[in-house]
Amino acid sequence: MAITRASLLAILGCLCFCSSALGARELNDDLSMVARHEGWMAEYGRVYKDAAEKAERFEIFKANAKFIESFNAGNHKFWLSINQFADLSNDEFRATKRNKGFIPNKVKVPTEFRYENMSFDALPATMDWRTKGAVTPIKDQGQCGCCWAFSAVAATEGIVKISTGNLVSLSEQELVDCDVHGEDQGCEGGLMDDAFKFIIKNGGLTKESSYPYAGADGKCKSGSDSVATITSYEDVPTNDEGALMKAVASQPVSVAVDGGDMTFQFYSGGVMTGSCGTDLDHGIAAIGYGATSDGTKYWLMKNSWGTTWGENGYLRMEKDITDKKGMCGLAMEPSYPTA
Ligand SMILES: *[C@@H]1O[C@H](CO)[C@@H](O)[C@H](O)[C@H]1NC(C)=O
Repeated sequence: MAITRASLLAILGCLCFCSSALGARELNDDLSMVARHEGWMAEYGRVYKDAAEKAERFEIFKANAKFIESFNAGNHKFWLSINQFADLSNDEFRATKRNKGFIPNKVKVPTEFRYENMSFDALPATMDWRTKGAVTPIKDQGQCGCCWAFSAVAATEGIVKISTGNLVSLSEQELVDCDVHGEDQGCEGGLMDDAFKFIIKNGGLTKESSYPYAGADGKCKSGSDSVATITSYEDVPTNDEGALMKAVASQPVSVAVDGGDMTFQFYSGGVMTGSCGTDLDHGIAAIGYGATSDGTKYWLMKNSWGTTWGENGYLRMEKDITDKKGMCGLAMEPSYPTA
């Protein structure tokens, strides 16, 4: 059959029409992405110094939004969303202080593990220390690399509530300003075990309200009233999620993870599963465990990135995985203070 001049024109017409429609759709996508970026800037109070910086940040925002959309379109047990880190590339995110605050333990001295002889049968099937009133509201470390202080404080707040009956929000800033021994270097990073050592030596830690968070290194205000004391600290045997379960069944526990993956950057909800790094760089606190209705076991974690990240600031990570190091290395260096 011969192609008539009329049908050829119709075909060409369609090609032109279709390709320009596609172009228009891309343009519309870009326009709506520009609007999303601007809405995000307003929501998070982000201001750029000039149009060039804005254009550069827009491209990163767009790439992140596309990554999040395609991840969420896949079959996962957790999902991601745009948050305060949306205009940072993953390399930049990994380099931010807030994600580089944990300095791994170089001189690990074995400690006692008081929960070693607990029977698994005696452990509760689920635990959530929030329901026992042993967890203060989510805090935000801001741009200071002192996750180690927030992690140690969360575990200390927990054991103080369990031993005294009082939940008191404690001062991370006192650790940032005054704890300058071992690995602890304020906003430049630190180690939870060294924070516990400081709290013991210091005769306790003061209240958040007496020594509020400043989000930057400051001069130590000595003579602060210590309201929360601990007697010692212990390390959970390394790479042993069973031992970690015994500890978390007993009290909130400080945990170090690799928080640098893009899925960690944009985690929004569900149980984080799948591949994750194990270069420990971030301190958080394990405040419980449980299982979803489909049987996925998880650790319940408290983070210090405000409530706009994760499940209102919390995170669930898969529990009892094949890799002994645990999801994102969570079983590598857990520890807790003792009353
Ligand atoms: C656990 O039990 C063993 C054997 O009875 C004992 O030697 C050890 O001291 C116990 N550990 C703790 C922390 O109580």
